[in-house]
Amino acid sequence: MAILKIARMGHPVLAQQAAPVANPADPALRKLVSDMVETMIDANGAGLAAPQVHVPLRVVVFQAPAERSDPGLSEDEKFDRTAPLTVLVNPVIEVMGPEREAGWEGCLSVPGLRGLVERSAYIRYSGYDLDGKKVERTARGFHARVVQHECDHLDGILYPSRMSDLGNLIFETEAKHWMKNE
Ligand code: NI
Repeated sequence: MAILKIARMGHPVLAQQAAPVANPADPALRKLVSDMVETMIDANGAGLAAPQVHVPLRVVVFQAPAERSDPGLSEDEKFDRTAPLTVLVNPVIEVMGPEREAGWEGCLSVPGLRGLVERSAYIRYSGYDLDGKKVERTARGFHARVVQHECDHLDGILYPSRMSDLGNLIFETEAKHWMKNE
């Protein structure tokens, strides 16, 4: 295992389309993914996409723990708002409804900043795990947000490009002025 260097906004690898993985069960992918997980946890991130570690392939890792969801959710409501540590190879997202939600995002490739981003509130996604088995889930809330954010990296999109008002792009040291009720 190794902690990988994270590409920062401006590096060309973050602006390009990542290539599909020919064989999700390729043993060589396991080393990359285990290093990505170690790098994500070390950096205290909720997700990481392969282009962020200079590998332009369609691979993401993420987690959506219950504490990142809205507080006070019932067990039923948590069902598709949380996800364990997940690896997705060649992910595809399907938007399940017109509802959109604004939420604060950060990105390990855009260190020190937070931005308010509107995303689809309800999605279904699919992809492959490292055994080549298909993964399919529905997602809402933070879970839906992190998957959309990570998959955007595979298309060369960073969250500031998704913002409708750059007045809501702030330094995380100033976030206390904006998130008093969170
Ligand atoms: Ni990111």
